[in-house]
Amino acid sequence: MARVHVIANQKGGVGKTTVTVNLAAVVADTLGGSTDQPRVLGVSTDPQASMLEWATRVGDALPFDFEQCHDRPEVLGKLRGIKQYDHIFVDTPGSLEDESILRTVLAQADDVIVPLEPEPMSFSPAARSISRVVEPAGVPWRVLLNNWDPRDGEGDLQQTRGFVAAKGWPSFNTVIRHYKLHTRASAEGVTVVQYAKNRVALEARQDFFKLALEVLGSSNGGTPRHSNGRPKESAVNAVYSGVEG
Ligand SMILES: Nc1ncnc2c1ncn2[C@@H]1O[C@H](COP(=O)(O)OP(=O)(O)OP(=O)(O)O)[C@@H](O)[C@H]1O
Ligand SMILES: [Mg+2]
Repeated sequence: MARVHVIANQKGGVGKTTVTVNLAAVVADTLGGSTDQPRVLGVSTDPQASMLEWATRVGDALPFDFEQCHDRPEVLGKLRGIKQYDHIFVDTPGSLEDESILRTVLAQADDVIVPLEPEPMSFSPAARSISRVVEPAGVPWRVLLNNWDPRDGEGDLQQTRGFVAAKGWPSFNTVIRHYKLHTRASAEGVTVVQYAKNRVALEARQDFFKLALEVLGSSNGGTPRHSNGRPKESAVNAVYSGVEG
């Protein structure tokens, strides 16, 4: 059964689509799967459909399957029942008007990623989304600092980390840095896995691989919250059951 990862923040332009596309891309690229059966599905629930436009430009090079679902409530309410993928990454609307869509997909989530830009103007809208819709969903969630430009110095980053800590919000260690490559990627029809093999591109891509490690390695050990089965016997027990004496 797939793990459903929802990327949510009702403030517009904080990087939800950027994070969804590139995280889905690195996970799909790493996990492999056949061309006709990738192991990752990307879903856009945003009526503005910017992920659809991006995915269309990438075309056959897109390493994950993609569905635009904002007007398909029958799919949105049943994401966790989709069986043929390992991971589903869901982009959500950056507006207060589409809150019912957001609530519907959060009810399907195994975990939630809340992108936050390291600038004070972003703090209150994020806090509002977290307290109104993310926390009430009752699933693990973490804040992800996105779009930090190291050339601006550490000040904004430290201030944002301080705010997040004061709020007691869980957060990712990984920070997604600002790169022009990311800003241009949608228009150019590429994801991080198609970036050129130069130093800057490697650094830009590395942030998403680090994020993927944190997301996939999170504490529930890969067992979907909604799988009602017993947890698998641990590898440690399997090893020791074969040892005599
Ligand atoms: N780490 C980054 N580096 C460079 N540009 C970025 C980064 N993250 C986001 N951007 C740019 O910021 C803009 C907003 O990002 P994006 O569209 O992903 O946000 P969003 O939260 O999905 O917006 P909306 O709420 O409108 O759907 C885009 O132009 C995107 O390319
Ligand atoms: Mg978006």
